[in-house]
Amino acid sequence: MIRHIVLGACLASLSMASLAASLIGDAAAGEKKAEVCAACHGVDGNSTNPSYPNLAAQVPGYIADQLAQFKSGERENALMAGITAGLSEQDMADLDAFYIHQVPRPGAVPKEELDAARRGERLYRGGYAPMKVAACMSCHGPQGHGVPRRFPRVSGQNREYLKSQLWAFKSGKRSGFRSIMSKIAFRMSEQQIDDVTVYMHGLK
Ligand code: HEC
Ligand code: HEC
Repeated sequence: MIRHIVLGACLASLSMASLAASLIGDAAAGEKKAEVCAACHGVDGNSTNPSYPNLAAQVPGYIADQLAQFKSGERENALMAGITAGLSEQDMADLDAFYIHQVPRPGAVPKEELDAARRGERLYRGGYAPMKVAACMSCHGPQGHGVPRRFPRVSGQNREYLKSQLWAFKSGKRSGFRSIMSKIAFRMSEQQIDDVTVYMHGLK
């Protein structure tokens, strides 16, 4: 009797989102379900197209959350809206479980962009006080490996993708978790966006 009351209270306090979060993913099932994703995100979650994101070794929970946001339209993207339309919460949890165990492919900084990477490093590690831009590392981690489940891995991420997302946050097209990134990107210059994406891509 007491158990029923406690369980009822717990369920009542859980939102739909946290219910989805509590589903346990099956990586083997996820591997099968990920076959349709390989054309754009790579067989092992390392995409060969710089405008598509890598998914390998992403922080647990983030992929499932983003898939749910594409499906609901909260995060707008025509391609991913189509892909997620038929996915259940269990599918999303399984896909998440598959990708978190894939090995990320490190990126690199070309020689002619070392100066840009150095400027990007200063912003990533120290922020930019005059514009009250917080240090990226405080949420994405010193090596860009992210923090489950809200703060995504950014190290080695494809440059074109990183850039497109910072612009999407800046313009308000993507808002995300508590609009944290919109407020940050809004105050970043075009130069800072270019520099920090060079640096993040080269982080290991
Ligand atoms: C036809 C190409 C294509 C296919 C197939 C595809 N995606 Fe995507 N995916 C994209 C693009 C493009 C984006 C970037 C969307 C944006 O700009 O917001 C993306 C973004 C994502 C993101 C967000 C990543 C991040 O770092 O925020 C996740 C997660 C994702 N896709 C998972 C999947 C999964 C899982 C599948 C298979 C079930 C899949 N995608 C199939 C093109 C594709
Ligand atoms: C206070 C925490 C916080 C700080 C500081 C922060 N971020 Fe983020 N960042 C987030 C969150 C949360 C998300 C995920 C947003 C969502 O769910 O859509 C994110 C997402 C991103 C993404 C998209 C990644 C992807 O896979 O789609 C990029 C790129 C990014 N941040 C870059 C930066 C840069 C560059 C800085 C420093 C100038 C920075 N962030 C500082 C919290 C932070």
